[in-house]
Amino acid sequence: MIPYSEIEKAIDAVAEKINRDYQGKEGRNAILCILNGSILFTSELMKRSKFDAELLTMKISSYEGTTSTGIIREVIGLSGDVAGKNILIVEDIVDSGNTIEVIYNEMKAKGAAEVKVCTMLSKPGCYKKDIPLDYVALEIPDDFVVGFGLDYNELGRNYKNIYTLDK
Ligand code: IMP
Ligand code: MG
Repeated sequence: MIPYSEIEKAIDAVAEKINRDYQGKEGRNAILCILNGSILFTSELMKRSKFDAELLTMKISSYEGTTSTGIIREVIGLSGDVAGKNILIVEDIVDSGNTIEVIYNEMKAKGAAEVKVCTMLSKPGCYKKDIPLDYVALEIPDDFVVGFGLDYNELGRNYKNIYTLDK
């Protein structure tokens, strides 16, 4: 669906936008990598980042196969404090928005000074929430995809290109 060369170009563009907004931003920045899917994307963003930020992680799970269970489980909690910090949530994909909503609200509840959302992929046709997706690398149709961090039952994360799952 999306070859690596195109993914790279899209990451370059979104990283540039983030750099413009974060260079000179007041306060302490933290990049929140949502495990496991956004490990690869977060790494690519960090390689391109030109501002100071700490790296935080948390592990969220909601999918079985190609469908959301609707139950968002925090499998591994936040690795550090978010209070008073500018939190940039980094996701692999935003689909219905259920997951990002839970994470976003948790950041607000824990006293983050600012919360922004960055996602490698978004499916605008499926998004049902009103949390702003501040930085989106690529928009895709409503297909289940694997590769570049995204899995189908935990496999396929290592694929360099992004593929539509052939049912
Ligand atoms: P949402 O809660 O429906 O927005 O789904 C977001 C989460 O579900 C992401 O963090 C992914 O882990 C997973 N997900 C959603 N769509 C896909 C897909 O097409 N491929 C792989 N994982 C997906
Ligand atoms: Mg997943």
